[in-house]
Order: sequence, then structure tokens, then C-alpha cells
Amino acid sequence: MVNDPSPRWLRSPVDGARPGLAFGADYNPEQWPREVWREDVRAMNAAGVTVVALAIFSWARIQPAEDEWNFAWLDEVMDLLHEHGIAVNLATATASPPPWLTTARPDILPVDQEGRTRWPGARQHWRPTSPVFREHALVLVRAMAERYKDHPALAAWHVSNELGCHNIYDYSDDAARAFRAWLRRRYGTLDALNAAWATTFWSQHYSAWEQILPPRLAAASSYPNPAQQLDFKRFSSDALKDHLRAERDILRELTPDVPVTTNFMVMDGISGMDYADWAAEVDFVSNDHYVVPGPQAQDDLSFSANLTGNLAPDRPWYLMEHSTSAVNWQPVNLAKPDGAMARDSLTHVAHGADAVCFFQWRQSAGGAEKYHSAMLPHAGEDSAVFRAVCDLGAALRDLAPVAGAPRKPARAAILFDWQSWWTAELDSHPSSLLRYRQEALDWYSAFLAEGVRADVVPAGHALDGYDLVVAPILHVVPEALARRLRAYVNGGGHLVTTYFSGIVDENDRVWLGGYPGALRDLLGIRIEEFGPLPADQTVELEGGSVGTLWTDRIDLTDPAVQVLATYKSGEQAGRPAITLRRTAAGSAAYVSTRLGPEGLRPVLAGLLEIGGLRSELPARFRGRVELAVRATDDAEFWFLINRTADAVDLGGVDGQVLYGGDDQVLGPRGVRILRRPR
Ligand code: GAL
Repeated sequence: MVNDPSPRWLRSPVDGARPGLAFGADYNPEQWPREVWREDVRAMNAAGVTVVALAIFSWARIQPAEDEWNFAWLDEVMDLLHEHGIAVNLATATASPPPWLTTARPDILPVDQEGRTRWPGARQHWRPTSPVFREHALVLVRAMAERYKDHPALAAWHVSNELGCHNIYDYSDDAARAFRAWLRRRYGTLDALNAAWATTFWSQHYSAWEQILPPRLAAASSYPNPAQQLDFKRFSSDALKDHLRAERDILRELTPDVPVTTNFMVMDGISGMDYADWAAEVDFVSNDHYVVPGPQAQDDLSFSANLTGNLAPDRPWYLMEHSTSAVNWQPVNLAKPDGAMARDSLTHVAHGADAVCFFQWRQSAGGAEKYHSAMLPHAGEDSAVFRAVCDLGAALRDLAPVAGAPRKPARAAILFDWQSWWTAELDSHPSSLLRYRQEALDWYSAFLAEGVRADVVPAGHALDGYDLVVAPILHVVPEALARRLRAYVNGGGHLVTTYFSGIVDENDRVWLGGYPGALRDLLGIRIEEFGPLPADQTVELEGGSVGTLWTDRIDLTDPAVQVLATYKSGEQAGRPAITLRRTAAGSAAYVSTRLGPEGLRPVLAGLLEIGGLRSELPARFRGRVELAVRATDDAEFWFLINRTADAVDLGGVDGQVLYGGDDQVLGPRGVRILRRPR
């Protein structure tokens, strides 16, 4: 791989051979005296660690002053890791600017919507559009690449860290300038911008570019222009993407044989970065995922891993961070129960991860994350966590045959669209309670409960391979997307969409003539008014399911439309709640209320039947066990993941056991991996 001009995976530090599944963590040796480093590499070897992410927060240590560089410690750590056969995913170290820089140049600090400066003292306190920050960061990137380009431990570059975790929205003057430049590129003329933003409303017409600002805090109880808000979200995602590209371009110039990645955050609560749009910028996708406890915690992990695997389909991805046990940033931080760590890790592998890494190697003794778990906890090597880590390392070594095997596409897909996420949740809407990602996750939970695999794919993904496509709250439907969906249904595909879908175009302008605008004819329905529900109100459907959040006053416009469910109570009583319009070979269904994972289950079961989809699992353990499949030309790897805290009888599924024991029973939170000939 060494001279491959377009490296796609780790450059192996050892002999150029493709490694199996990589295993490791963020490694922060700067927090520890040198004596500990030797302890670290020994314990890493014992645990089976093959790769670490290094120097993520080391800027102040590497460059203690503008004209002073200190690489000696990092040279030593790089050499030490290499001597112990551990590869390095080396950070560009730009994530957290040092105090000398923020003191000299406070104009790199981000500014919030109210014009308040975000001060240093934590991390990621920089404006994505600051030319001053960019210049200093790129000096560091160049210095890092020059210094380590020939180092044999260098296996990949880790740009910055979780771009946008703390600084996605910056309302500074730098941001204002960059926003205007971005808008000029997007619209060309002010006339086009005025039309797209509907500035005839509230006297907002712009007559010069300089008048345009980021959507800073507006007059009390008022709302900034929604199209401006939407464009600011697009711009903010692009601004960080530009930063990623700027660092990457230097790395590619100096080390064309070393792949470049950056850790995405495809997980609950993070919406600002359009990763579908970012994925092409990196050689391989990396993701960080942390479990947020709750009834759908495990489903969310699987959902996130699934979507991550489809950002750059057919290519392995890198789980850069997850936790061995508790985190430190939730209101109450729960330790993981026995078996949960391995199950979490292997669920990511099931969805295509070829690297399993944690934050972090050694639990910090000081600093804000000292109560965050690590591979090597405060208790030391004589601990349940470290023993579980060693077991996982050994298991991953044995799972080498899985490495590189792409995920086997499912026959159903859930469309995931950042544009709809951003737009559907803007203010001044029929309901502020709507949650885009939650609706998508609820559908995913219903698939898991039915034991049917579904791919979570970006909205731009090709649809032809799928028999059933669910598009939850597909709010933004530009003409081109509407055409694709029509072609999909007319070509025999089965489409399902939900409330608040098809409503606006790419400029957040409503499709007129009745909702759901762009999808009205395809669905054969027309809605004159939305019927959102107050937080404490539910509606009943005939058959017993209960809707929350939303209802629609649906009229059927195509007499052939079937009503699959009717409202029994509330304003829409007697009217359709779920509809289905069949075409020659396909169909288009509409679900007008939030049913939640339980309520969606029977609805999905019916839709699966219409689409001719069945579970690949025996009925006995459907819903209790998740199935994910990776496949090569001659074999399939079946990952059977126990979603419950009870043992499950797996009888009836055969294959060569690669992991998880070979008795018939899969223990609580257990995972079984089977190799099955194709
Ligand atoms: C991530 C971050 C890590 C660490 C971790 C704690 O957001 O990249 O540096 O802070 O969270 O969960």
C-alpha cells in the first residue's frame, strides 16, 4: 500500500500488509510522566492494541510559543509505539488552540448568537472562518507532516477532532464575511438571494451584500428569516468542511501515501454537520459514538453505526471513539453492565467498522474527563474493565477474516436527510415538538423489532436496490428528489413517508396547492391543514394504536387510495390516518401521526408484506436479536446481537462460529458471529 496514490485504509507500519481489525484508543501521553509511557506500551501489547490516535490535544505542548517547537517528547512516543508494533493515527493537533495564541489573537474566539465571546479555558474555542486561526493551524499541520512523514509508525492522519462539536455555529464578524461570500457563490445575484429568502416578508429586502448578517439574536419573541437560518446551517457545515479540506490538502501534498480521516459524530444530539456531504472528503470515514441510556439506547447505537457505514458504502470505516464504561458528560453517568462493552463494539463491527477504538487509553488523573472511563481505568490492570478490554482485543484478532468484508445491503432502507432535519426543526412551525431523528430512529426500532434488516442511507443514495424505502419527515423535497421518488415508485418500489414530508423546496418555500406538496400526487392525498397535538394529548386509531405529536386532515384525491388506518378519536375522528396508493407494481404510503416504535411495528409488518419482505431470522427470536450481515464473494458473516438482558435460544441458525460460543443459548447482551458459505 505504501505508494498507493489514493490510500483508503491504514498504512500498515509493520510490513505493508493489510491489517485485520484494528484495536486501540486515543492516547494522551502528555498527561503522564515518561515512566508511565513504558507501562502503557507494555499494557497495550497485553491488551492487543494495534493503533492509537496521538497528539489530539497536544498543540500547547508541541508549540509552546509562536516561535518555539518541542517535538522531542512526541518523537520519543512515536518511536516507542513503533518499537512495540503499535501504529499511529496521528492527529494534526489543531483541535484546541493554546493560551499564547488566544491571548495574542482573541479575534480567533467564536461568538455566540447574542454576540458574546466564547472564551478559552475548555477546548475547540476557534472560529471556523477565522483567517488568523486557519493560518496558525496550517503552520502546525505542515510542521507535523514534515516532521513525521517518514516515520514508520504513521498509519493515518486524524484531522483536528470532532470538528463542530463545540464551535459549529459562530456568529462573529469573520463568520459574517464568510457567510456573504458563501451566499454570493450560491446565488450569484442579490435578486436571486432576495427571491430565495422571500425577503418581501417583514421588509427584509437586501440592496447590498454588506447588509447581510448571520441570524444573530433577533428582536424579542421574533424569528429570523427561516431561509437565512437554513442557509446559515448549510454554510456552517461547509465552513468546517473547508477547514477539513485545508488541513487535508497539506497532508496529501506532503504524505500522499498516508490516508486522511477525521472523526465524525453520527450520534444522538449532533446535527450540525452534514456528514453525507463530508464523507467524500476523507480517505475513510471515522465515527465517534457514545451510548445515551434510555429505552432505545441499543437501537440508537445500531442506527448510528448503520448510517455511518452507508456514508461511504462498500468501504470499511473506523470507530474512532466509544467508551469502555461510563462517560462524564451526562447528568448521571452509568457504568456499562457486564458484556455491554463488547456488544457495543461488535455492533459497530457488524455494521462495517474495521477498527474499534475508545476514548481513551489511560483514564486521566486530572482535568475535566477524569471520571470518564478508559481502557486502563484508575483501578489499574487488575480490573474488570481491563480484563474485558483484553478479551475484546483477543476476539478482534480472531475476527481478522471479517476485515474488509463490505456490509451486505438490506432490502429495505430508511432515508436520512440532514436538510430535512435542519429545516423541519426550525422555529415558527406548526409544532416545536417535532424531532426528526427520533422519528427515523422509531422506524429503525420497528425494523429491529420485526427482525428485518434495514439500511439507514443518506437521501442521495441510489434507491433501486431496495424493495421498501421509508422516508420519515422528508420535509425538504426539491423537484429532483420528487422525481427520483416518483421514478422509484413507478419502477415498482414501495415508499413510505410520514407527517410533515414533501412540504418545502430547497429554499424552505412551501409547495402550493395543499400538503404534502411535492409528494401529493404520488400519495394520492391532499391536506388542507395540519393538526399538531399538544404535548399531553394523544389520539386513538381504530385497532388500538395511539398517535402523538401530529395528525393531518387528509382528503383522498385518488379513489384507488386504500385507508390502512382511521382516526378513532380527536379532531380527525373518522378520517384516514394511514394511507396507501398502489401503482402498477409499487406503492406509496403515508403515516400522518407519530406512532412511536411500538405503534409502528404492526404498520411496518403490513408494509413489509406489501413489499414482499421477510425476516431472515426464525420467528422465535425476532426482535430480541439484531441481525447484521457482512459478506465477501464466498461467505457471509452473520452478527447475531442479543438486544436484551436475557438469554436467547439461537437454535435454527447454523454456521461456523467465529465468536460468542457454540452452545444454543446466546447469553444476556451476547453476540454470536457466524461464517456461512454463500
Ligand atoms: C469526544 C471527544 C473526546 C472526549 C470524549 C468523551 O467528544 O472527541 O476527546 O472528550 O468525547 O466522551
